[in-house]
Amino acid sequence: MIQDTLHLKAPGNWINDPNGFIFYKGQYHLFYQHFPFAPRWGTMHWGHATSPDLVHWQHQGVALFPTKDYDQNGVFSGSALEVDGRMQLYYSAVRYRQINPEDIHCAGQDDFVTSQAMMISPDGKEFDNWNAKRQIIPVLTDRVIGDAKHTRDPKVWKDGDRYYMVLGSTDGAQGRLLLYRSEDSFQWEYAGQCASAEFGWMLECPDLFRLDGQYFLIGSPMGIPSGPKYHELAMYAPVDFDPASCRLQLRGPMTCLDWGMDFYAPQTTLDQQGRRVLVAWMRMPQPVPASADGRGVWNGMMCLPRVLSEEKGQLYARPHPNLEKAYCRPVQLGDVDNTRPYRLRATLAEGEQLDIGGYRIWVEQGCLHTDRSRVFAGCQGYRLQAATPALEQPRCRLDIFVEPNLVEIFVDEGRFVLSSVVYGLEKYLEGTTIESMYAADPESPRDRSES
Ligand code: FRU
Repeated sequence: MIQDTLHLKAPGNWINDPNGFIFYKGQYHLFYQHFPFAPRWGTMHWGHATSPDLVHWQHQGVALFPTKDYDQNGVFSGSALEVDGRMQLYYSAVRYRQINPEDIHCAGQDDFVTSQAMMISPDGKEFDNWNAKRQIIPVLTDRVIGDAKHTRDPKVWKDGDRYYMVLGSTDGAQGRLLLYRSEDSFQWEYAGQCASAEFGWMLECPDLFRLDGQYFLIGSPMGIPSGPKYHELAMYAPVDFDPASCRLQLRGPMTCLDWGMDFYAPQTTLDQQGRRVLVAWMRMPQPVPASADGRGVWNGMMCLPRVLSEEKGQLYARPHPNLEKAYCRPVQLGDVDNTRPYRLRATLAEGEQLDIGGYRIWVEQGCLHTDRSRVFAGCQGYRLQAATPALEQPRCRLDIFVEPNLVEIFVDEGRFVLSSVVYGLEKYLEGTTIESMYAADPESPRDRSES
């Protein structure tokens, strides 16, 4: 089985959203949307990977795949919960009403219906796709509640004695968040909804959680223009939520979780220490060729796990502390060639710049800017430049993680993050304000202890 260090990548072919992210029985489990037959989106399966520390990942193969009438065309995104020692996986089940005759992995005329389903695994290892699934919320027929086609991505949690679920949906024109609750985690009742222009025309992959007493909603609204090819970005907002009534209201407009163009469909869980950790899918316009380690042609990866915190109503995202342990071997400028992962700390003031093998980072008019036009060859029509909102201080502090297909920039201790997919970084690194660099030590013994 393929192993990944640092970034979890497609084991070959296609992956998209993170699913079922959970710390369960001593290890982290991260499932993902997976099309195992080609490096493009198609009939969705759940691929499965495990990690002792969120740094070293072991791919475990396909866990969930279509077997039922209701999920025959796809096991879409969802989440995981531990109940009485079992691993319960909640997902959206897709059934096409028409098949595209030339491509059975896509619906004809985009005509499909969606219900919500679950799978019970006794141990996070065995996934009985024939006997351990059940449908829990049938296809919606009441348009007042939500859409028969576009209602999906159950995120489930427990609070007190009750279980809660959020789903993304639409009334056809505007996005909605649906709330369900349950006494036993199997029988679900509709409990309310929240509609907002902030949700675009449809809200994908919602996640609702509390951080230091404040609830936050994250989600991926569709149809909010952000660039020529990607019309969607992942957003968040502080919300008022009352679990007793299931009333939810946004406290303000939604804002970006990451200011690059590729970060989408994030999902959070609690780590072993109770920290709120987030991972997201990094969209890639082109597949990467097969490599010597046995990985076939692949498309899609996860960002580094990020720890969320709340500061003055804003979400900060910092690299998980276990990553700091992994990037531990100091290196010199001359040793860096951008073909192996490393971490770089630098500061930048107005007019200063860093050039990571053709990926440029600079500060202009009080904002951090990036340009990947020299390392994105052949990806036509995608946004090449990105920028953060206004920085707080004239000199910003950068903590940057570089690997051949992804650059993640943590700005001012996680106040902003900007990540970019890249192709073909050159072998140099230039910048006058680089302070230190650390290589990732993939060979280091797996460290189970947490900081
Ligand atoms: C988001 C999404 C989800 C859906 C899944 C299908 O990227 O569209 O809403 O469940 O991908 O792969």
